[in-house]
Amino acid sequence: MKQASRRKFVFAAGATAGTAGLAAGLWRWYRAGHDAHAPHALPKPPVAPPTAADDAFPNALRLPGAAGLYGVVDHPRNLTLIAKPAAHEILPGKPARLLAYEAEANGRTFLNPVLRVRTGAAMRVKFWNALEETSIIHWHGLKVDSNNDGHPHYAVRGGATYDYQFTVANRAAMYWYHPHPHPLTGKQVYLGLAGLLIVEDEDDLALQKALDLRLGATDIPLVLQDRKLDANGAPVFAPSKDDRFHGHLGDQVLVNLTARPHFAAATRLYRFRILNGSNARVYRLGFRHGGKPLGYFVTGTDGGLLDKPYSVQDVFLSPGERVDALLDLRAAAAGDTLSLVSLGFDAMHLEGGKGAPHAAHGALADGAEIELLRIPVRSAVAYDRALPQSLSRIEPLATENATNRTLTLDEAKAVWRINGLTYDQKSTPIVVKRGTTELWEIRNVARSMPHPMHIHGVQFQVVARAGSPEQYRRIANAPRSLSPADLGWKDTVLVWPGETIRIAVDFTHPFMGDQVYMVHCHNLEHEDGGMMLNLKVAS
Ligand code: C2O
Ligand code: CU
Ligand code: CU
Repeated sequence: MKQASRRKFVFAAGATAGTAGLAAGLWRWYRAGHDAHAPHALPKPPVAPPTAADDAFPNALRLPGAAGLYGVVDHPRNLTLIAKPAAHEILPGKPARLLAYEAEANGRTFLNPVLRVRTGAAMRVKFWNALEETSIIHWHGLKVDSNNDGHPHYAVRGGATYDYQFTVANRAAMYWYHPHPHPLTGKQVYLGLAGLLIVEDEDDLALQKALDLRLGATDIPLVLQDRKLDANGAPVFAPSKDDRFHGHLGDQVLVNLTARPHFAAATRLYRFRILNGSNARVYRLGFRHGGKPLGYFVTGTDGGLLDKPYSVQDVFLSPGERVDALLDLRAAAAGDTLSLVSLGFDAMHLEGGKGAPHAAHGALADGAEIELLRIPVRSAVAYDRALPQSLSRIEPLATENATNRTLTLDEAKAVWRINGLTYDQKSTPIVVKRGTTELWEIRNVARSMPHPMHIHGVQFQVVARAGSPEQYRRIANAPRSLSPADLGWKDTVLVWPGETIRIAVDFTHPFMGDQVYMVHCHNLEHEDGGMMLNLKVAS
């Protein structure tokens, strides 16, 4: 009932934003964010009128523009990110209170800004915690020293600041930043704190040029976050005991904090750079054209470009992971309707125990089929770019002299564990020698859940999978039971129940002294529940 009336509201509300109660400043950033795309607008005619098909997805996808939510800050050198309550219309006409990172740059105000830098850039960021509880910013995927990593033991209390200063050593890719105070990460991310960090290098700029990829116009970041919203459209974080065990699922999926979004496209190539920013939900990403599956290309993963484009039908994306999907709309016609969907799959919650699919409290079940983004094709354009056959180089890590290590993921008394342990901020169960490569075998027991395992401070390569479930084996068409999205640099990898994954981790870095990072499950309720260990790289 509650659900039905909310839907009706979303459909009816359209674009009539109620301005009455809005503070002037707020309205300014809100509008600025929307006007910002005008200069990027694609050549339009011939234009198909909006169709009835868009009615179910009435809200224009929010895109990175020149200011406001997801506004792009280019080459930030001295930036202050303030974690604070902000107002944002997730449901049109209802400025809802959530949390966001606010920044000022070039006389403009940003919320959760997209930071765009080059490899090698020097960054200085001041984090100002304007929340009423501890927080810290973690740069997910970046190879920084532990002072700059945002490890929870650096969390600062409300009102305090933390200064970051580091060089971006990573390859071009879409990284992200989010809070990491223990055990408040899940709550703070859920309430809105998360932003993108786009790193560019020669290879990626070459691809952008070859395909005419422009951020916010034809190169589209998509942040997938399922949420439960209250009547004002504000996210409600109230996990039950069961949610804390399985992960907190929402009853709808927001894309770039837009409910029921559409993205109007033209007949050309687009790159969608997709982040699973959800606390717990896994997606199986596919496209549909007129109801039929439409293949696409995977061109990049967590740590950037693959060696070449791989043709796929679907890809699993677990919390924390990113994938670049190249979609070719040249065969479409103005008036066609496409969709980005999460295809149905077996979420494998407590597989061995015949656990019922997890769908507590009216949330969408994990593994349910969901239409995420409607893509109406509005205009036909001439576009004669060809997809390059080679994108970048991925040198396989040499593993002959690697140290072997095993991580076993299991559960006891409703607590998820790594090697039988849970987080203890004072102990460091994993010590690695700086400058070495390690081969880790991550084993998930059979009676378990899928765990997206993440390591701070490094990028790694997936070497092999064994014991994968059928739904994964179906797409594992690369050697050693890997799928295309396993073939790039990674910082997060999904380990299915019963599966054993081998990864090669490069612990080479230039930082003097011991560095303390961590390894954890990126299901944020599992992480906050303690499925997380300190990891020291000893110099
Ligand atoms: Cu994105 Cu320690 O996490
Ligand atoms: Cu991380
Ligand atoms: Cu987990």
